[in-house]
Amino acid sequence: MQIQWYPGHMYKAGKEIKNTLQKIDLIIEVLDARLPFSSENPKLSQLRGDKPCIKLLNKSDLADADITSEWQDYLEQTQDIKTLALNIYTPEKTALIPELCHKMFPAKQAYQSINALIMGIPNVGKSTIINALAGRIIAKTGNEPAVTKRQQQIRLKQGLILFDTPGMLWPNLENKNTGYRLAVSGAIKDTALHHDDVAFFAAEYLLHQYPQLLKDRFKIPVLPANETELMEIIGRQRGCLRAGGNIDMDKTAKILMSEIRAGILGQISWETPKMMETELAELKLIRASKAAKKKSKMNAHTRK
Ligand code: G4P
Repeated sequence: MQIQWYPGHMYKAGKEIKNTLQKIDLIIEVLDARLPFSSENPKLSQLRGDKPCIKLLNKSDLADADITSEWQDYLEQTQDIKTLALNIYTPEKTALIPELCHKMFPAKQAYQSINALIMGIPNVGKSTIINALAGRIIAKTGNEPAVTKRQQQIRLKQGLILFDTPGMLWPNLENKNTGYRLAVSGAIKDTALHHDDVAFFAAEYLLHQYPQLLKDRFKIPVLPANETELMEIIGRQRGCLRAGGNIDMDKTAKILMSEIRAGILGQISWETPKMMETELAELKLIRASKAAKKKSKMNAHTRK
């Protein structure tokens, strides 16, 4: 899996966050409701210390509503944080954010502003939320190394000052599914991961988790046994054919991905708390085995 990171940029952004944390009261992390685990900043719990935190599960219009509620319960119970599920079509929920922040500081007087650091990986909808809260278009902070725009402060009428940091996509790809899910959601652009690969990942997941959505969208009465056959059926149905009648998988993959990203197939969540726990447990085992191998290699080396 080939994914482009900007290590220097991320290092600087991480340092900037640490400095900012000294002057802020709380953290607002914007997550993609379809993948709250894969779209989180894995360093946040470490950076955060005991600062209060609100996690916004954004783009909830694209996610499975039952699973979003499951995530909210799970996050609030296990992480001592508040959550809010919202999307671009629920401005009344976005408007609740300042009130939610103030509720977390009951001792503060109404005239005292709350300093909130707002963060999120690129494309989760952070700018859309900031613009909705500010009631105007605020220039984006830079996501790319070439963009020199830095952190900015946005003073809202409701006694909230937002500290906006450049978007950061941390190298949280020890878990292979995380990369695929970020690609499915559009957070990682097609150039970084091969979209055929991503489409096969999505097709396999949908076959297991959302068979009815596939049946309805592609008018398939009986689903095939595997993702390759499914892609062939979709390709044939959409006229993605090469000379000789072979399926053009590249074109099929593009169609499937754009329909998924636009929510045309339906509301889909790409991970659940249970899946996350299983994957974290697997990662722990992999890390332990790697550490043991490294140790035995070092021991062998010192014995020489
Ligand atoms: P960012 O600052 O976190 O990078 O994200 P931004 O607000 O720019 O939003 C990224 C894309 O996601 C935008 O689409 C935006 O309209 C869309 N978006 C934001 N919030 C929601 C939401 O709640 N639901 C849905 N369905 N979409 C949302 P775009 O400009 O068309 O960009 P792109 O999709 O072509 O990347």
